[in-house]
Amino acid sequence: MTIGLIAAMHDEIASLLQHMDAYGSVRHIGMRDYYTGQIYGQDVVVVLARVGKVAAAATTVTLIRDFSVDTVVMTGLAGGLARGGAVGDIVVADRLLQHDLDGRPFWPQYQVPLLDQAEFPCDPTLRKRLEQAAASFLQEDFEARLDTDTRARFRLKNPTLHTGMIASGDRFIGDSGAVSQLQASLPAALCVEMEGAAVTQVCHEYGVPCAIMRTVSDRADDTAHLDFSAFLRDVASVYSAGVIQRFLEAA
Ligand code: ADE
Repeated sequence: MTIGLIAAMHDEIASLLQHMDAYGSVRHIGMRDYYTGQIYGQDVVVVLARVGKVAAAATTVTLIRDFSVDTVVMTGLAGGLARGGAVGDIVVADRLLQHDLDGRPFWPQYQVPLLDQAEFPCDPTLRKRLEQAAASFLQEDFEARLDTDTRARFRLKNPTLHTGMIASGDRFIGDSGAVSQLQASLPAALCVEMEGAAVTQVCHEYGVPCAIMRTVSDRADDTAHLDFSAFLRDVASVYSAGVIQRFLEAA
């Protein structure tokens, strides 16, 4: 059983790669490096998808066709919407949708033309395993892995785990007007990011189970861009590595 591990940004996979066994190999395909090996006893292929839905879809197809992965797990950052909670919370998707897909008047808003569906569910078993890994990380590892200074700097207090819909689109949401629009049109969406729905759609089309987890890095408002790289380096990469460690150890 081989697990494809996708991250959108480099900092997130750097710490995962540190735990990859020495016999791992790297293949360069379509401007991406695919690292094959074992992490915590599991066969994995780790890859940096880069940003956006096209990048994520291309990466997922390669993982499935060239590496025959049995499952796909993606980690990354997200902007929190109404019920997405606070910065530092984790969202595990039960389903995803493309908030910028609009084929009207020929197809309903958000629906993927010719697939007749807008929302793509994550695999329930994989999703529950990811939820358990995220919950134990927050309960048992959070304080140990993030020092007091980092927690204070990003005002991280009792981060919580949410499960629900994630909305993806090829746009960084960084203003409160856009947030209000998304909240009104997609009240179920917990957070917004730029890749997850593409990964889930490709996995659906190939019949490969997948699960997606996001760390809330900002509130998608006018301050969303501040501290983005610092958050990625000091918080999100610690979260991703910690949750994936627990996820793989439980596999
Ligand atoms: N990823 C992290 N924050 C985001 C935002 N505000 N919009 C889109 N993707 C994001």
